[in-house]
Amino acid sequence: MPELPVPTQEVSARFDFLEGLRRYNYTVHVAGVLDEYEQNAATAKTNGGDRPSTMEEAGSRIASTPLYQFAACIQRQAQQMGWAAARESLQSHTEFIQRQIESLPADPIGRLVLDPELDLPDYYTHCDDEGLDDIHLVAGGYWGDSLVGAVYERGGALYRLAWRVGYSGTAPGALKAFASAAPTGEYRRILDMGCSFGGLTMALGEVYPDAAVVGIDLSEAALRWAHLTAEERGIPIAFEQRNATATGFPSESFDLLTGFLLLHELSPEALDAVMAESFRVLRPGGHIRFLDIPPYAALSPEVAFLQSFDSRGNGEAFWDGFLSRDFKSLLSEIGFVRVSDGPLDYDEPGYWGSAALMRDGKFRPDNRWVTEAFKPSH
Ligand SMILES: C[S@@+](CC[C@H](N)C(=O)[O-])C[C@H]1O[C@@H](n2cnc3c(N)ncnc32)[C@H](O)[C@@H]1O
Repeated sequence: MPELPVPTQEVSARFDFLEGLRRYNYTVHVAGVLDEYEQNAATAKTNGGDRPSTMEEAGSRIASTPLYQFAACIQRQAQQMGWAAARESLQSHTEFIQRQIESLPADPIGRLVLDPELDLPDYYTHCDDEGLDDIHLVAGGYWGDSLVGAVYERGGALYRLAWRVGYSGTAPGALKAFASAAPTGEYRRILDMGCSFGGLTMALGEVYPDAAVVGIDLSEAALRWAHLTAEERGIPIAFEQRNATATGFPSESFDLLTGFLLLHELSPEALDAVMAESFRVLRPGGHIRFLDIPPYAALSPEVAFLQSFDSRGNGEAFWDGFLSRDFKSLLSEIGFVRVSDGPLDYDEPGYWGSAALMRDGKFRPDNRWVTEAFKPSH
């Protein structure tokens, strides 16, 4: 990763506090909410009552409990404070980081292609007057702050409850596991949509060193950071500023198409368009593979309700819509075949924290969800 200022003692203490707060909230409060729910369900059963069968019913039992309300407040405040702390820790180095971002590598092994004319869609730039419903509470969203790459590197590690580990010079294990679990095939051209600062794109570059890997995103700032990072790690990647709804790539030009945490951030119309575009740019017989959040239908009603917190409290405007949607049917309607989904088969303790899916102090491996399909051969 490009160089970030070493956190001061004060900044380190703040990050430790925020990480500890979130961990405690998951392991004690959220686990307590689920325990209380189980006890109530057991009592109701003894009295001849039914266990809730929908997330709305489960939510009506959970939402008014003091412990849930407390856990939800902490979740939101810790999230907001985490991104703000990451941003603030870079404030005094703004010019230094800006210079890094602007000084492109002299003899790049990859490529950075920006498009100053690209229109940013409304669903992407929308926020309220105070910026408080910005996507997952990052002030300025993905596009409004030129330091967003550096902010994500810091804040993302904090979010994963591993700020001291950071990104440690390589893609996270879960992303490499996801990239390498694609069915055996000849992947000469790979497209990663919504690549942001390139977490999955670099994992693909590491796993498929002979392929031409392209990462696209709307955010110029994120792409600049991704490019610097990939160059520093010696991974040749083309980062290009393009809209995944209409990429402008020739038809049938990629063998494998991926996205990590893109789908739940798209408006319903943009999701339809991205999947149609994916079908167009994929070669016949090619493979699509997305890693995202498990749909509500795959979760118990009470866990689905807890998981839905992000739509109410974390600025995730499209979370509920996407996680309630039958995404596999959409893929079939577009023409994809052999559509399947399931949990990512990878356990990375302490990483990929998801409040709702954490029980007994352990993350479960199924807090990331893979959906994959093929384009029919001619
Ligand atoms: C959660 S981030 C993705 C994280 C990233 N894939 C990784 O490996 O770390 C979602 C990204 O989707 C991008 N995005 C949203 N809508 C898009 C669109 N229509 N076209 C391209 N990128 C888009 C955002 O700019 C953001 O960088």
